[in-house]
Amino acid sequence: MASSDVEKWYQAAVDVAKEAGVIIRDGFYKAKKVEMKGNPRDLVTETDKAVEDMVMATLHKTFPDHKFIGEESVAAGAKCELTDAPTWIIDPVDGTMNFVHSFPYTCISIGLWVDKEARVAVVFNPILDQLYTAKKGEGAYLNGQPIKVSGQKELSKSLVMTELWCRPDEKKMKIAYSNAMKVISQSHGPRCMGSAALNMCQVAQGGADGYYEIGLHAWDVAAGKLIVEEAGGVVTDITGAPIDIMNRRLLCVSSPELGKALTDILEIYEEERD
Ligand code: IPD
Ligand code: CA
Ligand code: CA
Ligand code: CA
Repeated sequence: MASSDVEKWYQAAVDVAKEAGVIIRDGFYKAKKVEMKGNPRDLVTETDKAVEDMVMATLHKTFPDHKFIGEESVAAGAKCELTDAPTWIIDPVDGTMNFVHSFPYTCISIGLWVDKEARVAVVFNPILDQLYTAKKGEGAYLNGQPIKVSGQKELSKSLVMTELWCRPDEKKMKIAYSNAMKVISQSHGPRCMGSAALNMCQVAQGGADGYYEIGLHAWDVAAGKLIVEEAGGVVTDITGAPIDIMNRRLLCVSSPELGKALTDILEIYEEERD
């Protein structure tokens, strides 16, 4: 891979994320046009759609041979398929529920994968002006400053992020809540903030020690995975096995030891693949 290619991908990702940031910031304090997708808590706004359309059109113009996976395009029927071809994986607004409520923990997430590996990652929260970036093998950064994970090894001293939601499948909800109870009773406590990509960035910058969730999609984790790994963290399936970003299960931690402590107590279930 020529380093000039990587630079071009990286610059394009940062530029388009900043452009997306203008659209997100613009819509943030206004009344939103909200539609329901799957259920009353699965929402999409005109901003989600406008950002995804703009990001895809802009990147397609520069990289006409590249492929794309984007949350709202998949919702509209596009294929969600990761091949060896360069593929931009885009979550136009991660933390849509936060965006709807003007809770300032929301971002755009863009990851470029080549040969099924993340090469370039950008997560941008335009409300708090936090730009997280990574290139494979070159470290992770927040607004240009290097970041690293806490390195915490002990669950009893860890702050662990997860998300708790109300979903139609009660059996799965019970497992998620019972997992959370185990983590709460054995750690410093939980944090549920409403954006998978920013949760991963929080682990990357050492503000939290771990994050796990079942039910995520490729676009939730495609950028965060590289940012956490480049910050010295570990990203796996929730079982501790290598992650398959299509498999909808994530564990990201500040150390292998903390990963083991969590996989030992977390119960798993399967989610349908996209
Ligand atoms: C969601 C957020 C949320 C997580 C959900 C995701 P969206 O993404 O990341 O924190 O719990 O699993 O679907 O819908 O806001 O892009
Ligand atoms: Ca969504
Ligand atoms: Ca998301
Ligand atoms: Ca989204």
